[in-house]
Amino acid sequence: MIIIGKKMNFEALDRRGTYTTKLDDAIKKFGTNDLLPLWVADMDLASPVCVQDAMRKRANHPLYGYTVYPERYYKAIKKWMEKRFDWKIKSKWIVPCYGVVPSMNFAIEAFTKKGDGILVQTPIYPPFVSSVKHRKRKLLDNTLVYKNGKYEIDFEDFEIKAKEAKLFLLCSPHNPTGRVWSEKELGKIIDICVVNDVIIVSDEIHADLVYEKTHHIIGSFEKMKNRCIILNAPSKTFNVAGLNTSYAIIPNDKLRRRYTVEQHRSGVTNGNPFGIEALMAAYEEGAEWLDALKVYLFVNIAYVNEFIKKHELPIKTIKTEATFLVWLDCSKMGFTHEELVNYFVHEAKLGLNDGKSFGKSGDGFMRLNIGTSKEVLEVAMQRLLTAYREII
Ligand SMILES: Cc1ncc(COP(=O)(O)O)c(C=O)c1O
Repeated sequence: MIIIGKKMNFEALDRRGTYTTKLDDAIKKFGTNDLLPLWVADMDLASPVCVQDAMRKRANHPLYGYTVYPERYYKAIKKWMEKRFDWKIKSKWIVPCYGVVPSMNFAIEAFTKKGDGILVQTPIYPPFVSSVKHRKRKLLDNTLVYKNGKYEIDFEDFEIKAKEAKLFLLCSPHNPTGRVWSEKELGKIIDICVVNDVIIVSDEIHADLVYEKTHHIIGSFEKMKNRCIILNAPSKTFNVAGLNTSYAIIPNDKLRRRYTVEQHRSGVTNGNPFGIEALMAAYEEGAEWLDALKVYLFVNIAYVNEFIKKHELPIKTIKTEATFLVWLDCSKMGFTHEELVNYFVHEAKLGLNDGKSFGKSGDGFMRLNIGTSKEVLEVAMQRLLTAYREII
């Protein structure tokens, strides 16, 4: 393992009473709450102390009115991009927003019209597909190729579909497959998009949680600088998704203007006072915590892999190069997909994401969230094993 980080203690917190999606929406999602919820993509682990302190400090001022984004906010993002990704940006490129998915929708509205083609790569985080469909654009699915337990891009198909596309919604790193796109893969994508005049909207919300590989920001490629919109947030990295604070980075003035007009047309201008404080604290002081978190998550991923191997469960884990989401190929378990989903909920009593919610190519797959403690994962794996033993 070549992830460097100080050892820190992480524990799964009791989230009851905090209106948490993971627990409180479990009944709606699974029809029961008699299960261990390992689905929606946030973690059971506390945010870093620097973020907690910033929240307390802000809460102590008992007035929570309209809030602007201060210069410090822009500086924090700029420094983070340079330090973590070696990418130098300007403050004026940053357009704050309240979520990556809303930004994706504003970008679709800004750069395409009804009927225009938009490329996506399924299996994919569901809003990529639903945003295209809701806005009545044409979905061009460059389905990822699953070969020898690994996901790859079908470049021939990408090239054909790019001719019909105005926009490519890239997920980098990719959820749910956990792929980190290499410089070479991104280079090929870029060349095709440049030739076909396709703008790339790159959702890089998982970029901080890359383990052994290197994440390349799409905007850091010279050829792409004037043709891309990068979407990011501290949400996944520092477990602050509920604070609804994200940003777009758009180096090109014209594209940024078009995007900003669309966002403002929807009334999204001011920020969330807590989200702003959290972002600044996290990016200014959270690096050491993040490095330790990555070690912890990496060990969790290894544990799941080893457990499945050791007990010869007929499940293949796809290599998690990034994210705290493990994509499980359960196609050899001997179930139809519907039986598989039922098996996880009602036999193993585990609340995972249904693979098919990420697209047809998710048939036979489930997505496991390992952003919790090792102890919780041990219970989960034991439940999986016990349930499996009962059916064989
Ligand atoms: C790839 C990806 N993009 C966006 C989001 C959600 O972002 P936001 O809550 O900022 O809309 C998620 C959450 O799981 C995600 O995995």
